[in-house]
Amino acid sequence: MRIAVLFDGAGLARLGLEQAGHWCMGFEMDPWKHHLSKQVGAGRCLLADVRELTPEYLAENFDAVWASPPCQEHSVARTQGAVKKPDFGQGDLLALTVELLGAFPGPVWVENVDAPGVREIMSATGQYDKWNAHQFLPEPVQNRTRLIWGRHRTPHTFRGYRPYVPGICPCITATEDRGCASDRRRASRFYGRKLTPEECAYHQGFQIPEGWWDLPPGWRGTKVQWRNQIYEAIGNGVPVYMAKAFGEAYEAA
Ligand SMILES: C[S@@+](CC[C@H](N)C(=O)[O-])C[C@H]1O[C@@H](n2cnc3c(N)ncnc32)[C@H](O)[C@@H]1O
Repeated sequence: MRIAVLFDGAGLARLGLEQAGHWCMGFEMDPWKHHLSKQVGAGRCLLADVRELTPEYLAENFDAVWASPPCQEHSVARTQGAVKKPDFGQGDLLALTVELLGAFPGPVWVENVDAPGVREIMSATGQYDKWNAHQFLPEPVQNRTRLIWGRHRTPHTFRGYRPYVPGICPCITATEDRGCASDRRRASRFYGRKLTPEECAYHQGFQIPEGWWDLPPGWRGTKVQWRNQIYEAIGNGVPVYMAKAFGEAYEAA
């Protein structure tokens, strides 16, 4: 299938769908995440604002749509102050996405955190199911509960849904750069130390491309700040093996 991947981030969901044999095009508005995504998988992605896409454009050009709108507004992992001001648009992006894709004729997956506000938006306009990343690997490596709204085939899983499986890493967050031995909410609490970006990527099911470490043209921050962009991109991503399982429910392109 030709799949549009809205809110492409660093391309993790897109990579999984490509691994399932599909032709994918990402749409991402943050130039730094887009820079990372171009180096992931086929690297087919556009620097674009999802709010400018229309249902007609999507229906004419794609067979299916995956969307992972930003979830900071709703995330239970977020404990610090207000949501950062939307450089790249947040607010009602989930509601906007659900509306944009409501009448899409093919398979649709809208992925987000499991939080009351998300359940409310999703259940108002259709159906969602609960999933946990531990279901998608024979030897699970991460607990990561997510809701997926839309119309799509049920993926193959290795075990049924449970909100939390003891003995495996908790959800890799977008702020693992701030992890420490005494952490109480990041994945670092499981290991008793901060995780490296490579370790975060391992739990999300991919290896960091070499080029990610080079500071991109136009980057005005420090090396550490760039490394934190990488942590954030990984923690905000969809586990590659999870997106792959949803893609594998359909014939490859
Ligand atoms: C949850 S992350 C997506 C993760 C991605 N699917 C992955 O698996 O790597 C959400 C992304 O949406 C992007 N975003 C926010 N508003 C957007 C907009 N209006 N148009 C396009 N992308 C946007 C953010 O920059 C962020 O990278």
